[in-house]
Amino acid sequence: MSFHSQVIYQIYPKSFYSASGGSTGDIRGIIEKVPYVASLGVDWVWFNPFFASPQRDNGYDISDYYAINPDLGTMADVEEMITAFNAEGINVMFDMVLNHVSTEHEWFKRALAGEREYWDYFYIRPAQISEDGSQLPPTNWESKFGGNAWVRFGDYTDEQGTPLYYLALYDRTQADVNWHHEPARRALFDVVNFWYDKGVRGFRFDVINVIGKDTVLRDAPAGVIDKTLYTDTPVVHTFIQDLNRSSFGPREGTVTVGEMSSTSIENCVGYSHPAQEQLDMVFSFHHLKVDYDQGQKWSKVPFRFAELKNILNDWALGMQAGGGWNALFWNNHDQPRALNRFGDPQRYRTESATMLASVIHLLRGTPYVYMGEEIGMIDPVYEGIEDYVDVEAHNAYDMLLQQGVSADRAFEIVASKARDNSRTPMQWTSDPDVGFGTSKPWLAPAVASDAHTGAGISVADEERPGSILSYYRRLIALRKEYEIIAKGSYESFALDHERVFGYERVLGEQRLLVLNNFFGEENTISVPKAYALSKVLISNYEDADEQLAAGVALTATADEFELQLKPYQSLALLIG
Ligand code: NOJ
Repeated sequence: MSFHSQVIYQIYPKSFYSASGGSTGDIRGIIEKVPYVASLGVDWVWFNPFFASPQRDNGYDISDYYAINPDLGTMADVEEMITAFNAEGINVMFDMVLNHVSTEHEWFKRALAGEREYWDYFYIRPAQISEDGSQLPPTNWESKFGGNAWVRFGDYTDEQGTPLYYLALYDRTQADVNWHHEPARRALFDVVNFWYDKGVRGFRFDVINVIGKDTVLRDAPAGVIDKTLYTDTPVVHTFIQDLNRSSFGPREGTVTVGEMSSTSIENCVGYSHPAQEQLDMVFSFHHLKVDYDQGQKWSKVPFRFAELKNILNDWALGMQAGGGWNALFWNNHDQPRALNRFGDPQRYRTESATMLASVIHLLRGTPYVYMGEEIGMIDPVYEGIEDYVDVEAHNAYDMLLQQGVSADRAFEIVASKARDNSRTPMQWTSDPDVGFGTSKPWLAPAVASDAHTGAGISVADEERPGSILSYYRRLIALRKEYEIIAKGSYESFALDHERVFGYERVLGEQRLLVLNNFFGEENTISVPKAYALSKVLISNYEDADEQLAAGVALTATADEFELQLKPYQSLALLIG
């Protein structure tokens, strides 16, 4: 079975389940939950990094790619976990963070200790001397987590006595690795091969489209954050081809996905077109910026539906035209819960969660489910900034205060966008400790009951017909049963509709129309007459067959009939 018909489940290990009763989830906890993951019908499980790390960026700051973070388990535990998933027919996908290493990594420590050959593993550059003689960092690039992207490299200076800096596009303890330096590149390829030999078949490459900085680094125009200086450069494609050929490419049974920051359709076609020998698919993020105010993440405005729909449509069409392949997702460990952003967790939690699921699972691409999404988990309601753990949330809060934003508003903004929103413990039960295995988790759980219905938000509560969980299981199974979902082409539908996102999938004589009402009131949409005799493949309302019959009987003209979609209704109609 190819990845076109497969579904990937993402586990944030620190927050999945604690078998040891410590403050974090652990590998043995994951092993205990293998049967649950298998019950979803997914084919792959992607784990956020659980390698040795000082945890400045929750494991994306790796100090040893070959060692397991002792808080989470041992190498033997990881091997057992791989075997346990494989026994259920599930493959594992590891997170390869190859753009940067922790400053606690041996390479950086040796560089800092003065071993010159390790200086080449990083971007080490002298300060710029401005006209008035003052010193500036080597370029004006912004770190993704705030502030300038350069950090003073010990006390070192160049021959002229100018201070040296190292590049850190993320946290200051995540030093960017110089991929131009062949020994560094080869050492990273060895990491992938080591894990392949342990039975890992999937690889998710973290921010892989920023690995190709130029050899001469240039300033962005004053006052501008110009990511193109280090993003999607031509050499990124060359480096990924080298990665492919030197690691997973010649090996059997692999699936790869690249995380692409601030990218374009054109580049993503290149990254994922099979003939390019780069990756199988790509994550892009434009659809998750439609609730940014003027491009600023740290803002709080309602999402712009027309923009969301156009982006999803453009990417579906563009990737198809170029022969590329999308990874499809609403949630991950870096995003607040989509249910809070694009749904209505207060009044229509089940309806909006299932509608959002349909949008992704019936599209052209490979769907990803982030733990907790399948049970309709929502963002936590914390009291103050101290409840957040993530370095990015704290940096953003400080930045907003410095910009003169009031403390209340700054908190409100951070609460709406913080990455911790999705990192709260997985809710196995609706008890106060959410059945996480410990009463003192590293991050406080989100609310475990539905504010409107009072029903629990947990796996235990969702094990019933008509639940969000049952709906996800059905969607995952449909992709395997119906080739049109896995392989059909994508066509736009009613692009101008202001409330409904629709699209069609086409395979030979078959057509599948997917209609999604993104709002909490009824909305009407005209449907071609050909669908009058269609079959309801799936809907998140029970009486969809009657609804279809009523629409046809009441409103049919020669070419079309009208369907009245209920709040957050999703309806998929199949002909042929
Ligand atoms: C993207 C990861 O998803 C995120 O969690 C991390 O902070 C950055 N890459 C840096 O590794």
